Amino acid sequence: MTATWVQVLASYLHLLAVAVYVGGSVAMEFVLGPAQRFVPPAQAQVLAQKSADRFLVLVWSSLALLPVSGMLLFFSLSDQHLVSSGDIVSTGSGRTLLAMMVLWAVLAVNGAVITFVYRPRLASKASGRGGGARVGEQLEAMQRAASRVSWLTRADLVIALVVVLLGASLAYGNGIL
Ligand code: HEM
Repeated sequence: MTATWVQVLASYLHLLAVAVYVGGSVAMEFVLGPAQRFVPPAQAQVLAQKSADRFLVLVWSSLALLPVSGMLLFFSLSDQHLVSSGDIVSTGSGRTLLAMMVLWAVLAVNGAVITFVYRPRLASKASGRGGGARVGEQLEAMQRAASRVSWLTRADLVIALVVVLLGASLAYGNGIL
């Protein structure tokens, strides 16, 4: 098979997904996040919620595209020799590829926790039922959720940057593990 166009397409999609994931996370963390401090709290909360909702669509699109384009790269580049004799842990490149896949899974799990556990908590409004103490508790729970989301997104950015290093070491060498 002449794999050139498949390689170009796979590489294009893989790098595009990396750019959207890493670039988006950097913009959220270092541009939008700090800018929110200059906006009144109620508006900052709405801005954070709306931008996070939109960003999560990009996150899930790139998380879905990464393994598909990665596998396409793997087969089109004839990278199967990286995993010689089917034993992925016996070579440096096999271990590097395995680490990429495991770290991708960590990103996906963290994304699921943010989307399905913390986002609903942040989106729920303090109802006022049960009096002031109850509202206080709800606000505290929301603050806890917000700080966990922020911790998880920072961890995701660091993990993604490590995976970029693993990818580059595979593309231009034999992996670094
Ligand atoms: C299941 C998930 C993934 C699989 C199967 C996968 C697979 C691959 C493969 C096979 C390569 C090509 C190695 C070569 O050129 O010989 C590659 C390159 C690369 N990957 Fe992934 N990958 C995955 C996830 C990720 C993630 C999560 C990131 C970063 C956020 C990433 C970033 C990169 C980068 C930057 C390259 C180098 C591309 C280049 O310079 O041409 N990959 N990946």
